[in-house]
Amino acid sequence: MQLDVFTLFPDAFAWFRDQRHVANALAGGSTFETVDYRATTPLSGGQVDDTPFGGGAGMVLRVDVVEAALRARYGIDPVELRARRRVVALTPAGRLLDDALVDELAAEPALTLLCGRYEGFDERIVEHFASDAVSIGRYVLAGGELAAMVLADAVLRKLPGALGHAESAQEESFSAALERMPEYPHYTRPAEWRGWAVPDVLLSGHHARVREWRLEQSRRRAAAQD
Ligand SMILES: C[S@@+](CC[C@H](N)C(=O)[O-])C[C@H]1O[C@@H](n2cnc3c(N)ncnc32)[C@H](O)[C@@H]1O
Repeated sequence: MQLDVFTLFPDAFAWFRDQRHVANALAGGSTFETVDYRATTPLSGGQVDDTPFGGGAGMVLRVDVVEAALRARYGIDPVELRARRRVVALTPAGRLLDDALVDELAAEPALTLLCGRYEGFDERIVEHFASDAVSIGRYVLAGGELAAMVLADAVLRKLPGALGHAESAQEESFSAALERMPEYPHYTRPAEWRGWAVPDVLLSGHHARVREWRLEQSRRRAAAQD
């Protein structure tokens, strides 16, 4: 996968790029690159934002600035770009990121993530340049960088070779393998600690019963969430 992140703070991604599963995905042929909106802004003094029409607090990321950055990177009109690759605008009011959407995005050969800052995007960016508007939760962060890392982390760990054990990403909370339910509890040694014993069934060596117990735990957790 070719993953590009457009941001005003490319340095914010240095830690992320070094994470084991990200490094594994990159070693496997994927790319993760950041593009600084400021590098190609057509405005003087590195300007990228402006005051909102209609008044109000904060500054809004300009549509001409984002267009210039997308054109410089891909060499085509960004309106056409979104038909060729998924262009995701990170925004609090977007479609909520869940495992099904992560699966969908992980199947793409290329992804572009647009990070907002300040008061957010000029709406024309979302309407005309993005194929998707995605939120990582119903709360507001200061900028799209953490949201982009959350999305990229969830997507990249699904790619072949990203995790040490490929099965780790198959049966997890909210995965199709677990019928979108939360995962069951895990335990490891010691089998007893301060009187807290691990459920007997997990020590039984009886795979079918372990499987049934785990599914039952997932169902209980799912019911508790409803
Ligand atoms: C301070 S926020 C803007 C909030 C905007 N004024 C609103 O009320 O929806 C600045 C940027 O952070 C990012 N952001 C903040 N919270 C987010 C979330 N929950 N999911 C995805 N992106 C988020 C977006 O890129 C957004 O443009």
